[in-house]
Amino acid sequence: MKALILAGGKGTRLKPLTNTLSKQLIPVANKPILYYVLEQVAEAEIRDIGIIISPETGQGIKEAVGDGSRWNAQITYILQSEPLGLAHAVKTAQDFLGDSSFLMFLGDNLIQGGVKSFVKEFTTNKVDALVLLKEVPDPRLFGVAELNEKGEITRIVEKPREPKTNLAVPGVYLFTRDIYQAIDRIKPSWRGELEITDTIQQLIDSGKKVRSHILTGWWLDTGKKDDLLEANRIVLDEFMKRDLRGEIDAASQVAGRVEVGEGTSIENSIIRGPVSIAEGCQVKNSFIGPFTSVGAGTVIEHSSIEHSVILESCRISGIERLADSVIGRSTEVIRGGQNLKAVRLFVGDDAKVEL
Ligand code: DAU
Repeated sequence: MKALILAGGKGTRLKPLTNTLSKQLIPVANKPILYYVLEQVAEAEIRDIGIIISPETGQGIKEAVGDGSRWNAQITYILQSEPLGLAHAVKTAQDFLGDSSFLMFLGDNLIQGGVKSFVKEFTTNKVDALVLLKEVPDPRLFGVAELNEKGEITRIVEKPREPKTNLAVPGVYLFTRDIYQAIDRIKPSWRGELEITDTIQQLIDSGKKVRSHILTGWWLDTGKKDDLLEANRIVLDEFMKRDLRGEIDAASQVAGRVEVGEGTSIENSIIRGPVSIAEGCQVKNSFIGPFTSVGAGTVIEHSSIEHSVILESCRISGIERLADSVIGRSTEVIRGGQNLKAVRLFVGDDAKVEL
């Protein structure tokens, strides 16, 4: 069994963050999303892993993941020259995958409880494909499946306007080498992509057994700002442990499940967990409230922050209340000077400022 992780694509819905950082590397609770995916693939005992990368962000992915030894895995990088769809990505990886069955995992999805039992179900039942499904309130943004009474998929449609069920496809699949023939038979969709959903429908139409496995735990697709904040909230809530490594002075209070990295100093501040503050930060005269992640080397002074994701090397100063925000790397958010009513901005392309 091999694994194929998709970390190409454009990440347009998370601009401007994704202008310089691939969306699979955006941190949730201070860890890149792709690391959670790699951990779950390794936990399912799959060591031979291919990662689809794009020309624009591939180098960043290679630097972050390296040779995979951190996960006891061997990584092969596969360049997809253009984001022409999930099925196109599989076709691009055909030489790497060979005759092997494989787990396909979208590199920007987080799943509670991992994929080990899902992989086991596939190998035990010897089906032609197994697709993870999850009941969601609004399935129109995803692939949507219809099942028969045996749990086999009878129909699967990409982002239907009028979904027939509430069963969305979270982006974790298991396939055999039958998939390549099915890809060869499909045409690009209205959005110009070779869709994996159309490929699965092709498998069904040619009489293959496509089973489903319904996920009961949470599934987080980190495609947009609010999804990212929600993922950060859930992951902090579930995994954060109290681990204080930096220096915390006597005037500060650190309550609950808070992680403070090496070389971080907390002075005259209140931190109320669950919160993750990475290495080399400075927090002074501030309040950091629940569900906040602060990236390495960030300075926060005279400010109050909650339910936010601040990436590395930022400076937040004099901000009375910052909430529900995602702040990209090396960004300064400062209130200063005499004229408190003036707002002075130096904001990059595609930014969104709500005052
Ligand atoms: O998130 C689950 C959904 O993912 C499924 O419900 C849909 O059926 C599936 O088509 C997909 O829809 P999206 O439109 O959300 O896919 P997105 O373009 O965001 O790409 C998903 C991941 O795959 C992302 O990490 C980028 C990567 N990718 C995407 C394309 C189109 C590639 O590596 N190559 C590509 O060509």
